[in-house]
Amino acid sequence: MKLQKRPQPNRMSEGSDQMEYNGDGMGRALRLGVNIDHVATVRNARGGYHPDPVRAAKIAEDAGADGITAHLREDRRHIRDFDMAAIRSSINIPLNFEMAATSEMISLAVETMPSAVCIVPERREEVTTEGGLAVVGHEARLFKILTPIKRAGIRLSLFVEANEAEIKAAASIGADSVELHTGRYCYDVERRSDELARLASAASLVHSLGMECHAGHGLDYDTVGAVAAIPEMKELNIGHFLIGESIFMGLPAAISRMRQLLRSARA
Ligand code: PXP
Repeated sequence: MKLQKRPQPNRMSEGSDQMEYNGDGMGRALRLGVNIDHVATVRNARGGYHPDPVRAAKIAEDAGADGITAHLREDRRHIRDFDMAAIRSSINIPLNFEMAATSEMISLAVETMPSAVCIVPERREEVTTEGGLAVVGHEARLFKILTPIKRAGIRLSLFVEANEAEIKAAASIGADSVELHTGRYCYDVERRSDELARLASAASLVHSLGMECHAGHGLDYDTVGAVAAIPEMKELNIGHFLIGESIFMGLPAAISRMRQLLRSARA
């Protein structure tokens, strides 16, 4: 099937009922992006087609996900090229295409035309995305290589640590949003309250610079509430925990519980 050369609908800009705004432009509602990479991890463990990430994406949509996130890694360890195209043409909610800033990935993104692209750092030997993108010092290179994404009308997000200099650098190269890395907050239990404070002040900076604030990595039912309660937060992207939990309770129930926690955090 030939993909249409236009970006997917963006609920934000189309004023969907999922997004409500108060006076200062901060949304009370919070989008949940479901990352389906690890459905492909399980599929690839045996080869073949089961379980199918496209089926997971459609189930996630039906269960109330506001978007689907998938990371096409350079080594194709989970999501493969054909998954991206198939997910893009099968869902009616925004697709967030996670990728490294390489010319190969940028061409694939422009071909796929997702709603958004999220640029992450990538090292082959890492188990998962271990840190935020280094934007400081690489502004000119990133601006140049990411220009086709902006020109195509795809929203550009950069996955960074909750660090003032990185956030300002992201704004300087024209990012539409910043996704804050929540790994330290989730995994360093002793420093959790400090990390939460860092995320909250970073979110406020992101908002003041006119970008949307997103966050993700390592979030689960215990850690999501405090991040969801940060008023400037607009989107959380959650994968590993939800896919893992779905083994026990099913994907719709796992997503629906997460949605409920997001809603209570904003109540
Ligand atoms: N956001 C980004 C940019 C990521 O790289 C990841 C991990 O792929 C996630 C969110 C989701 O993290 P997790 O799978 O730990 O929920």
